[in-house]
Amino acid sequence: MATAMRILMVTSELAPIAKVGGLADAVAALAKTLGRLGHDVTVALPRYKVIEEAGLMLARRLVPLKLPTSEAFTFDGRFAPGVQLLLLDIPGLYDREGIYDHEGQAHPDNLRRFGQFCQAIAAHAEKRAASGEPYDVVHLHDWHAALAAPLIAGRRAVVGNGPRTVLTIHNAAHQGLFPIDEAVALGFDAATLTASDGVMSALGTGVATADVVTTVSTTYARELASADGDAVGALLRARNAPIVGVTNGVDYATWSPSTDPHLVARYDAEDAANKGRCKASLLAELEMTVDPALPLFVALGRVSSQKGSDLLAEALPQIARGPAQIIVAGEGEPELEARLIAAVEECPDAAIYLGHVSEAMTHRLLAAADAVLMPSRFEPCGLVQLYAQRYGAAPIVRGTGGLLDTVVDCDAALATGTGFVFDDATGEALGAAAARATSAMRTARWGELRRRMMRLDRSWERPARQYLRLYQAPAAPASERVEVAPPAPPA
Ligand code: GLC
Repeated sequence: MATAMRILMVTSELAPIAKVGGLADAVAALAKTLGRLGHDVTVALPRYKVIEEAGLMLARRLVPLKLPTSEAFTFDGRFAPGVQLLLLDIPGLYDREGIYDHEGQAHPDNLRRFGQFCQAIAAHAEKRAASGEPYDVVHLHDWHAALAAPLIAGRRAVVGNGPRTVLTIHNAAHQGLFPIDEAVALGFDAATLTASDGVMSALGTGVATADVVTTVSTTYARELASADGDAVGALLRARNAPIVGVTNGVDYATWSPSTDPHLVARYDAEDAANKGRCKASLLAELEMTVDPALPLFVALGRVSSQKGSDLLAEALPQIARGPAQIIVAGEGEPELEARLIAAVEECPDAAIYLGHVSEAMTHRLLAAADAVLMPSRFEPCGLVQLYAQRYGAAPIVRGTGGLLDTVVDCDAALATGTGFVFDDATGEALGAAAARATSAMRTARWGELRRRMMRLDRSWERPARQYLRLYQAPAAPASERVEVAPPAPPA
């Protein structure tokens, strides 16, 4: 291995201690993999109440970090071999319910919560440099970490050196938009912020000031770079440097049916007989009909328009008439939850809505499922389809973003393919794809499809090495570049 790098990961979520969505899984797995590859990794996140409650062993540092309008206390812990945990506590900001929101309401002081978190990150990086152990790279994830980029760049302009910054966009739909005056009141320099009409974009600021910008799949990179009129897309084009797509992997230590402690019986690609036991046991637990001949469709994850929950509600009765069984899990936008509940009530014997489920239940649902429904309107990467393949459940996905990069549509004979892909964002198209899967399940080739999916190699090793190359060199290998159009001439 080349020399070990000192890497600081900056994130608002980290599985399993602070998880809302896929970001938590992706950052945790990347950090663990880099640690395993021999690098010196520190993951920094706010010291939320949930983390305090998890009862981790933490050591509090005596001297707080000075911020422009506050101070931050730091706590050190250990996350995994080679991976340190750094928790930042700023009085009044994190000791409450909810990482981003509570009872459907975003915390009103989220700019302060994550802006000061970024200031603390920059102060910490500076302190490390002063102690003679500077970070080589600071890897920022999503808008919550993005405001550290201009601070680190500013410092580098003054002292002549400093860590390289890499910003990964997990979801450009969440930009962190706030009145610029509020950011200035927190001590940010207006000249370093990206704003329009008095509204500052935290993600846009990161895009404009980070050394390298990546996103979580090649197709989403292309979609972002070409999204005309989209604010982040315009910034990406203005960078005049490629945005790099690095597709997420799967943490096999957590997601493998051959070792999964949450399952009643374990199985793998070569012998999947126990998958049937997992299905029967889950159906019995949920008091649903146990009939191996009935296909079981599962939908998992946030209930939102991004995830196409309305399309699912629309198609659900038709899919149930297959005949098939459907389990919907996850929570989110109340209006969409209501539509899902109404759809499920139309087919009381075939479908059930579980709302929020535990991590353990998520594993059991994947092991039980014959197919997993993901009708996303857009999807930067998506992890559930990768987990589904690993657990031998065929993903049924809309062809967008990372879904398109990770699921190959099956041909009619099931000789090739790793799932079912449809194009139109309609309930009808979803229903038709589910019907294709239902008839495929009745054929003898289904077992082959299952084996092919379960054998895919999606380990984090490959994406981790791609990130390492970006940490070391500013320009990506040509094959990983997404060419972006030059910025439009000023009007
Ligand atoms: C966000 C995206 C999702 C991606 C995940 C991890 O949750 O919406 O597509 O898989 O981040 O990168």
